[in-house]
Amino acid sequence: MDRRDPLAHLRDRFRLPEGLIYLCGHSLGPPPRTVGARAGQVISGEWEADLVAAWNRHDWVELPRRIGRRIAPLLGAGEDEVIAADSVSVNLFKLLGALLLRTPDRRAVLVEEGNFPTDLYMAQGLARLLEESGATLRLTAPEDFESSLGPDVAVATVSHVDFRTGRMLDMGALTSAARAEGVPLVWDLSHSAGAVHLRLNEDEVEFAVGCGYKYLNSGPGAPGFLYVARRVQDTLESPLTGWMGHASPFDFETRYRPAPGMRRFLAGTPPILSMAALDEGLRTFEGVDMAAVRRKSVELGDLFLRLAGERLAQFGVVPASPADARRRGSQVSLRHPDGYALMQALIARDVVGDFRGPDLMRFGLAPFYVRYADVRDAVEALRLALVNEEHRQARFRQQKLVP
Ligand SMILES: Cc1ncc(COP(=O)(O)O)c(C=O)c1O
Repeated sequence: MDRRDPLAHLRDRFRLPEGLIYLCGHSLGPPPRTVGARAGQVISGEWEADLVAAWNRHDWVELPRRIGRRIAPLLGAGEDEVIAADSVSVNLFKLLGALLLRTPDRRAVLVEEGNFPTDLYMAQGLARLLEESGATLRLTAPEDFESSLGPDVAVATVSHVDFRTGRMLDMGALTSAARAEGVPLVWDLSHSAGAVHLRLNEDEVEFAVGCGYKYLNSGPGAPGFLYVARRVQDTLESPLTGWMGHASPFDFETRYRPAPGMRRFLAGTPPILSMAALDEGLRTFEGVDMAAVRRKSVELGDLFLRLAGERLAQFGVVPASPADARRRGSQVSLRHPDGYALMQALIARDVVGDFRGPDLMRFGLAPFYVRYADVRDAVEALRLALVNEEHRQARFRQQKLVP
């Protein structure tokens, strides 16, 4: 399968230690081979050489929009519909806030309770801030999310791919269900962008946020992005009215006026070093067909689940990800009561995934650098760890700060 893989050459675009099987791109992608040189160029060739003049000479101020144009094709979006900025948390706050402020007669912020906790917390903080206007947070079980899209909901948010299980929602169907109820829906694409084939325009998605440091391979704490469909951009005002989102930031006016288009979703000065790394991460996508990425991702996931079923089930390892690839992102999760210790044992065997409590071992299958043989070897390493009962060793049971 590796020999006939049309994407096999992409692995050379990254720096990965020899002999390591890296299945953690859903948490932190590996460094692109060129990122060190690019960071050096920005520091020495731009900052050091040109000092403050670099803002104009190297067009730093336009980086958030230039990067947005690079992200857009990965999302199936228009070039002027995406901008890079801040973290996922902050970007989500901006969109939820803008939408809640736009619809005074609807007051509930609807969040699926299995969503990534920062999404819950940001919605909770926003509802509390606007409590006096009647704003409330409404949490629903995943299976009740669609039926909760009612006439009092001002805005709803959901993850396209679930961070625990890799379960992927039908974006087109849910977007149209929300639209039928008049509810703007903000998609969190943290576990989708760069890993699955997205068609935001075709699916008539209006709002989304996403992450730079996972499948976009742009470095720890890389800026995230926002997507807003062109036709609604100018109907929204970000609640974080920073000067970089002002129509004319260098006129230093007393009153805030939003910039036209996506620029209104910027707040403060863009972090140029991190933005340059994000730009470099996105260059790893040059010439890559996302449909081919998706095909390989599905094959990797199917292979992983098949081998896990054949070789690990007798040890009490249970798949937590959908068997149906149409309902699965680029991640496979397996349950085991000793999942934490087992994952540490696997890492000691040079197979890196991660763990989410109480019992989930997560494996990110980034088609850019994960080989079919890696999947086979990872399952075999897990089988050997189980056979040898390595998870019972005290050294693998010590909790780390970042699990
Ligand atoms: C779905 C989802 N949203 C948001 C985040 C994190 O957001 P931030 O970039 O603000 O830390 C994560 C991190 O893993 C995530 O999985």
